[in-house]
Parts: sequence; C-alpha cells; structure tokens
Amino acid sequence: MDRRKLLSWFGLGWLISFLPSSLSGCSDTNSVSNSSSPAAPESVAAAPRGEFKAIGSVAQLDKDGKLISTDKKILVVRDPKNSNKVLAVNSACTHKGCVVEWQKSSQEYVCPCHDAKFAANGSVKQGPANKALPTYAAKIEKGQVLVSS
Ligand code: FES
Repeated sequence: MDRRKLLSWFGLGWLISFLPSSLSGCSDTNSVSNSSSPAAPESVAAAPRGEFKAIGSVAQLDKDGKLISTDKKILVVRDPKNSNKVLAVNSACTHKGCVVEWQKSSQEYVCPCHDAKFAANGSVKQGPANKALPTYAAKIEKGQVLVSS
C-alpha cells in the first residue's frame, strides 16, 4: 500500500467516526425546552413559547397595583384604558437594562437609572431610551393573571 492510499484511509476513518456525533448535535432530541417535559418551568420566560403561565392572583395585582414574575423579568399592570385587561412588559429598560418600576400615580414605568419613562403598554414616553419595552400576551382567568412569553 502506498503512502497516499494509507493517508486517504485514515481520513475516511476519521470522517466515519466524527459524522454520527456531529449529526446528533443537530437533532431536536437534545432540546432543553421540550413541551412534553414533566417538570414545570421555573419562570414565565422559561415556559414554552405561546404557553400561558400564572404569575399571580388578580387580588394581589389589585392590592399592589402590579405583579412581577419570580425572576423579576415581567411586570404586569391593569390597562389604564380598560381595567378589565392586563398588560405585561419586560422589566428591563431598553436603554441600558436597569429594572423599571411601575408608578401607580402617573400610570407609567420609570427607570431609576436615567429616568426614562414608558407607558403601561411599553411605549417610550421619555428618553434616553428610544425603544419600547417588549410586551407579552397577558390575560385574566379564574382569578389568576396569566402571561405568555
Ligand atoms: Fe433606563 Fe438608562 S437604563 S434610562
């Protein structure tokens, strides 16, 4: 066997041993977010996309004027234009990521870092932020506030 043929056999052997492992890395069987998983997600943000998850009761929302998810990434308030509806936004300010706070008296989110202001629906009312807060679908069902991320 000449040297060229020997090297081509080594190359083929390497390809055969490498290919199955690289292909399995592309399959969905390794996906962490499997909706049939028996374990409940830890947060709304970790819930499968499109699935609603309770983040608190309507009674708590009305008592505090807001609800915040356990991971502090989602804020929910009553819609100032329709108190039968709820609005959910991502709490990270779009300027530099500080957590915004709901001001019940002025019905707006205020960023404590550089004073950006956002409406209840997440739209920018005052800079320096120039992008709206991302929103999530939210609804009330059986006394619970449900949010889908
Ligand atoms: Fe919110 Fe700067 S981080 S205004």
